Formats: sequence, structure tokens, C-alpha cells
Amino acid sequence: MAVIPSLKLRGVDKPMPLIGMGTASFPPADLETTKAAVLEAIKAGYRHFDTAFAYGSEKALGEAVAEALRLGLVQSRDDLFITTKLWVSFTEPSKVVAACEMSLQNLQLEYVDMYLIHWPVTLTEMVRPPVPAEMVKALDMRGVWERMEECKNLGLVKGIGVSNFSCKHLEQLLSIAKIPPALNQVEMNPFWQQKKLRDFCKEKGIHVTAYSPLGANNTKWGDNRILGNDVLADIAKPIGKTTAQVALRWLYEQGVSIASKSFNKERMRQNLEIFDWCLSDQDLDKISQLPQTKGVTLASVLGPHPLVLEIDADL
Ligand code: A2P
Repeated sequence: MAVIPSLKLRGVDKPMPLIGMGTASFPPADLETTKAAVLEAIKAGYRHFDTAFAYGSEKALGEAVAEALRLGLVQSRDDLFITTKLWVSFTEPSKVVAACEMSLQNLQLEYVDMYLIHWPVTLTEMVRPPVPAEMVKALDMRGVWERMEECKNLGLVKGIGVSNFSCKHLEQLLSIAKIPPALNQVEMNPFWQQKKLRDFCKEKGIHVTAYSPLGANNTKWGDNRILGNDVLADIAKPIGKTTAQVALRWLYEQGVSIASKSFNKERMRQNLEIFDWCLSDQDLDKISQLPQTKGVTLASVLGPHPLVLEIDADL
């Protein structure tokens, strides 16, 4: 079974395994499929799982964790690091704690290890896209973060952080936070390297987690630009690795953690085999020159509203 290195985050006692298994799939997988994939991942050595209210995978993850404990695949819930996220329909101060409790109920857990604000925006109602413009409003950063801090103080969550926050949003958050965010989970891969944001986060002691590390191939929001890339394939071939492993290893060498999704038994194992070799300086140089294109946009989720486009432009 693979052993995954962990990192201690600011303000969080339990170290976070540097690769977590992503559970967002498109079209959304049914509960049994996701549950079976999580159980397989636990057998492969994954101990960190990344979900979100919006992915619809919290219940399946919760069932898999309960089953893993029954089967003795893990000794205790405390051996797992579970991350979930506050959806934009709940980013109003009065809704945060209840939304957190709802996620815990879905997960059948007493606490999650990390709770993130999913996007720095608010939807006044829970609606399916396309979202009417009048329902999109700016995030009440202070009010919502105070409630995130309350979730931590109540013991519902062990750590709090954000996702899809730009340097501008982080500046604003840091100026009001009593508990600073432990991490910022953003799109990052060889084609969206996030240099500026990573430098900023490093300076401020905020860890970065990469989502869509493989370009979210086969999803509505992703494509084949990483897994089908010749430069990465040419680096991988002579060292006996796959293109996916080169992309994941590159992320690891940048000092970030990774939320990587595979529901396939071989591929999820392959994605853990990145810790006992390294990329050469020439390989790193080639990767640094890859053209940069952003894959995930909030506009593709909520529609091209002015505030949404502003958030996308910033990230
Ligand atoms: P699958 O679940 O069938 O393995 P990301 O982590 O960037 O969101 O990308 C997820 C996509 O990449 C999924 O479609 C997943 O498909 C696929 N994938 C994950 N690992 C690999 C791999 N090692 N090789 C090829 N495709 C992979």
C-alpha cells in the first residue's frame, strides 16, 4: 500500500496527506459507484478525501467511510482527513453553521478536517443554472468568515480555508480574519501554474491545494490538454512514467498538495506512485514554458454575470 507524505497546516493538528482523492465526477456518479471507488482508494492507501456539498458526493463518501470502519480497512475515523466545501447558496452569515451541519449529516461524521468556502460569491437562493443575475451578489466576507470561525470553535471542523480565492480576496480576508485560512484550493496544473497566487500564499503562510491537476479530462469543465500533451508525454516516456504521473509529480515539486480524481483502480494507484523519483532541471524548464490556459470558470457554472466574470478574471 502506498504511503503518502503529509503536511502540517497552520492551526490544524492533524497533518494533511499531500494527495487527496477528488470525488467530483461528471456526469455525477451514482452513490454505489462513488462509494466503491472510495473503498478501493482506501485499500490503495488514500487517507485524504475531497468532497463538496455541490458535488453531491458527501453521502457516498460518508457511506464508504462507515463501511471502511466496519471492515477494519481503517482503524479509526481520525486516521482520515476529510475536506468539504460550503456552497455559494449558503455563503450568508445566517446559513453557514447550518450548512456545515448538513454536510456533516450527509457524511455521517461528527467533524470534518477542513471546511472551505467554495467560491467567493453568494447566490441568494438554491437554483439550478442558468442563474438569474439578481440572485448573484458579493460575498459578505467578514460575516461569513466569522461563521466559518464559529464552525471551528464549535468543533464541527478542525480547519478552515477557502477555494477559488484570488490574491485580492485573500488580502481582504486576511485583513479581517481572527483565524487565518489554512489553505486555498485552486485550479492548478502544468497549463495553469498559478505562479503569482502561489508566491502570495507562500508569503502569507497559506497552503495551496491544486484541483484539476490532470485538467479534469472527460468532465464538462475540463479537457485533454494535459493528458494528451506531447511535451509531457515526451518527458514521461524515457523515465518510464505516464503523462499523468509527470503532471502530478510537477505539482508535488512545487510544494502544493493535490486533489486528484480517479475512480479507476489502476489509475488511482498509479497516481500515488510519484514520491520516489524526480523531474530533471530540463524537464522542469520545458514545463515552465507550456502555454497557460485556465480551464475552470465560475461563469461556466453560474453564467456570465458581471460579478462572476470579475472573479474569473482575477483568478
Ligand atoms: P478516471 O476516473 O476514469 O480515472 P482531475 O483530477 O484533473 O479532475 O482529472 C480527472 C480525470 O482524469 C478523470 O476523468 C479521470 O478518469 C482521469 N484520470 C485520473 N487519473 C488518470 C491517469 N493516471 N491517467 C489517465 N487519466 C486519469
